[in-house]
This record gives sequence, C-alpha cells and structure tokens, in this order.
Amino acid sequence: MNEVIVEDIIKDILLTEEEIEAKVKELGKQITEDYKGKNLMLVGILKGAVIFMADLAKSIKIPVLIDFMAVSSYGNSSTSTGIVRIIKDLDCSIEDKDILIVEDIIDTGLTLSYLTDNLKKRGAKSVKICTLLDKPDRRKAEVPVDYRGFIIPDEFVVGYGLDYAEQYRNLPYIAALKEEVYS
Ligand code: XMP
Ligand code: MG
Repeated sequence: MNEVIVEDIIKDILLTEEEIEAKVKELGKQITEDYKGKNLMLVGILKGAVIFMADLAKSIKIPVLIDFMAVSSYGNSSTSTGIVRIIKDLDCSIEDKDILIVEDIIDTGLTLSYLTDNLKKRGAKSVKICTLLDKPDRRKAEVPVDYRGFIIPDEFVVGYGLDYAEQYRNLPYIAALKEEVYS
C-alpha cells in the first residue's frame, strides 16, 4: 500500500492545535473550580478520548482518579439501538465518586445516554459529561453536556484522538475528511 499523504484526505482544518490547547485549559480551570472538595474521577472513553484525557487531566489542578472504559454500540450507526456493549470496564470502584465522563465527540448521543445511566445505577455519587466536540445535527438521545469544547457541523472529523479506520489519531489538530474518503 502506498503511503497516504495527510493533505490528500483532509478537506479543511476545523480546529488548530492552539485553539484546542486554549479550550482544554479553559475546561480544566472550570472543572478545577467546580470539583473542589469532591471525589473527582475522570472516565475516558477509549480510544478516541485518550489524547484529550491526557491534556485535560494535566490542566485540572485538584487530585483526580483516572480510569477508562471501551464500548461499542450494537449494529451500525444508522440502525443503532442505543444499547452499548462494554468491551473494557472500569478498574476502579465508582461508589461515592463524582464521575466525569471524558469523551471525544457526541454525535447521536446514544453512547453517552446509555453510559450515564449505567454509571448512575452502579452507585456513582454524580455523573457528568465533558466532551471536546459536540455534533448536534444527528442527535437522537438528549444528553446533558456539562462541559463542551466546541460545537462542530455534521462532518466526519479526525485528529487529536479521533480516527478514520484507526488512522490519523495522532494529528495535533482536528480536520474534516474529504467526503470521497469515507463515502
Ligand atoms: P454517539 O453514540 O454519540 O457516539 O453517536 C459517538 C461516537 O461516535 C464516533 N464518532 C466519530 N468518530 N469522527 C470520528 O472519528 C467523527 O466525526 C465521529 N462522529 C462520531 C466516536 O467514536 C464517538 O465516540
Ligand atoms: Mg469515541
């Protein structure tokens, strides 16, 4: 296979490295203030949230626990039932923890709607959501977004953790893919 040059698959850069960095710092500052005196546990959703999680955690200036879950939805996105399969569960107990789910992007909202319920039922003290990106155009389930980085249009995006066929997660910016790449 020939090496694919990034410029060939990208339509445009939606968010630069500098814009992302500034926003992550702002979110970290707000979370630091809001969770003073609480039992904050960040729960990152693999794999898309890994890079956001690393930067966000460093910008939070109070003690935090960090854990990860991996999930996949049943069916493809157009026939999604909203039922989520947990592929990797948490390592830590969530009892009495103030959980902040850290996600790369909310699209239909089905994943986070299921996960929020699931973590509440398992005895978390509180469950809130922090997402870097919000794509509201295709929302099917209402989810309360407590911390939001950016609202973006309905385009397929890659970079800063987000992938297309497992590639491009390491791009330091967020870019929209050319439609011919994924259609
Ligand atoms: P929901 O349940 O909100 O799921 O539809 C959100 C998940 O869908 C994936 N997703 C994307 N991944 N670029 C990606 O790389 C995108 O533009 C995109 N839109 C949705 C992602 O895994 C997210 O966690
Ligand atoms: Mg994801």
